[in-house]
Amino acid sequence: MSQRPETKAIRIQTAKTDQKEHSTPLFLTSSFTYDSAEEMAEAFADDSLDVNIYSRFSNPTVDEFINKMTALEGAEDGIATGTGMAAIFSTFMTFLSKGDHIISASAVFGSTHTILTKYLPKWGIDFSYFNMNKPESITALIKPNTKMLYVETPSNPGLDIIDIEFVSAICRKHNILFVVDNCFATPAVQQPIKDGADLVLHSATKFIDGQGRVLGGVVVGKKDLINKLYLFVRNTGPSLSPFNAWVLTKSLETLFIRMDHHAVSAMQIAKQLQGHAKINSVKYPFLESHPQYAIAKKQMSNGGGIVTFDLKGGIESGRIFLNALGMISMTNNLGDSRTIASHPASTTHSKLTEEERLEVGITPGLIRISIGLEHIVDIMSDILQALDRC
Ligand SMILES: Cc1ncc(COP(=O)(O)O)c(C=O)c1O
Repeated sequence: MSQRPETKAIRIQTAKTDQKEHSTPLFLTSSFTYDSAEEMAEAFADDSLDVNIYSRFSNPTVDEFINKMTALEGAEDGIATGTGMAAIFSTFMTFLSKGDHIISASAVFGSTHTILTKYLPKWGIDFSYFNMNKPESITALIKPNTKMLYVETPSNPGLDIIDIEFVSAICRKHNILFVVDNCFATPAVQQPIKDGADLVLHSATKFIDGQGRVLGGVVVGKKDLINKLYLFVRNTGPSLSPFNAWVLTKSLETLFIRMDHHAVSAMQIAKQLQGHAKINSVKYPFLESHPQYAIAKKQMSNGGGIVTFDLKGGIESGRIFLNALGMISMTNNLGDSRTIASHPASTTHSKLTEEERLEVGITPGLIRISIGLEHIVDIMSDILQALDRC
């Protein structure tokens, strides 16, 4: 009988070595050896041979991490990269050429926005943005040279959600590669391939690590697509380090219970903050007030670990709130066992104009909380005492 995803996240493992270790070994080696000159020559002669040569190409620890992510996302194959941005950039570079066009949701992570707007045009690759809240506007943006459609759902930091099935039907009809950044949900909560995505990618730095230790990225999808990506990564070098892969594969063992716990606390905190005197509005995918609540319920098994709220009093209130926090960490990462607060308007998105920020749902008083695994009472009391000071 096929194992359940929770079990696969724990039990997929590199074949036992002669040492009969129980926990997975770490193959911290840059290269691999051969028994003969002929074997070595053969390894180099054929790119498709399943043999370890050099850890920029493949490594057993990295493969274990890839195999788990591939199984959890319901994909055929995957590749791993040093960061989430390397996964995104490698995907763009592999599948887009000079003269091509990409359609992307405008609500995407800041560095993804920079690649789309500053780098791709430099290489003759054109882009169009659409508003996540208006998926019906996608069709009008399609051109004969449109090769890829890119979304993040839920988006960072606006928590906008798009119907993956709806977008995948458009992409299929127009022969466009559909790429989903699944970083906020993780495969424990949402599997976009099941809903029709061609490629799913992650910043593994976030909930997949889950403890704020290492950077990493991964892309999964159909074998033929991943093979193209593999050749790009193998030759250009954004590969994942075996050490980071070891940390990430161990982290996956607890992904499901962590995501459940993050989501239970996040849901309760979001509910309790609704109607607070210092807050205009609270956003969380599984709150009925979320504009895409019905879609979230359809494609996600829980609401994830991120809650946002809009403070009354704008930018200044945001600063006061952050300064008033006691336990909750002030840092730009997310998806950690420690609860983290950030104020996008005065930090990560301060370089944008107010109009640009509002377009992607970043109001002056928007606070993003990545709910950690501490006791919910301690998280909540820190948020409430900081709100009192605003
Ligand atoms: C949704 C999303 N995608 C991609 C990235 C980039 O990942 P990395 O920092 O691992 O390069 C991030 C980082 O915050 C993110 O939040």
